[in-house]
Amino acid sequence: MHMENNRKRRRLIVATALAGGAGVLAGTVPFLSSLSPSARARAAATPVEVDIGGIAPGQLITVEWQGRPVWILNRTPEMLASLAKTAEHVLDPDSKQKQQPENCTNGTRSIRPDLLVVMGVCTHFGCSPLPRFGPGKGESTSAGWAGGFVCSCHGASFDFAGRVFKNTQAPKNLEVPPHRYLSENRLVIGSEEEKT
Ligand code: FES
Repeated sequence: MHMENNRKRRRLIVATALAGGAGVLAGTVPFLSSLSPSARARAAATPVEVDIGGIAPGQLITVEWQGRPVWILNRTPEMLASLAKTAEHVLDPDSKQKQQPENCTNGTRSIRPDLLVVMGVCTHFGCSPLPRFGPGKGESTSAGWAGGFVCSCHGASFDFAGRVFKNTQAPKNLEVPPHRYLSENRLVIGSEEEKT
């Protein structure tokens, strides 16, 4: 079963990544729009395996899964520390809404505290927010802002766990897709840990 799953996985190697924390890497798999309808359906259902070994602290990469962007952010200790400060300013600090798998319903919304794996899709009308954690951490007026992601469509802002700030347009935290780690440096998006 495991082997079968392994065969089904589309292998994806993240070849490069932008430095500096605020950079987003373009998806490195063929975009679904370039495929035939049947190939598109197969690709959409297929988990995506990612090499995460080269993501430096503070760096974010984007991969495509089901035709949508998934962000993988290697959070620095400072980013992680900011989550305690933003908790009182976000709408759903304890992730009570089912926007993440069970094993990510925790303070960092992740399996591994250092790695945030989240859909880069705003929960308002589906725009793709922009990472905002460079110098000055600018471009959000949300109370408690310490950097994160800002949606330029209508201004919703999200912290480093993808939690939406209060009094912005989006009603929910960013979605965390099902995912699991094969090893220290290999991540699969679209497949969860098998329950024992
Ligand atoms: Fe993001 Fe409206 S789509 S705030």
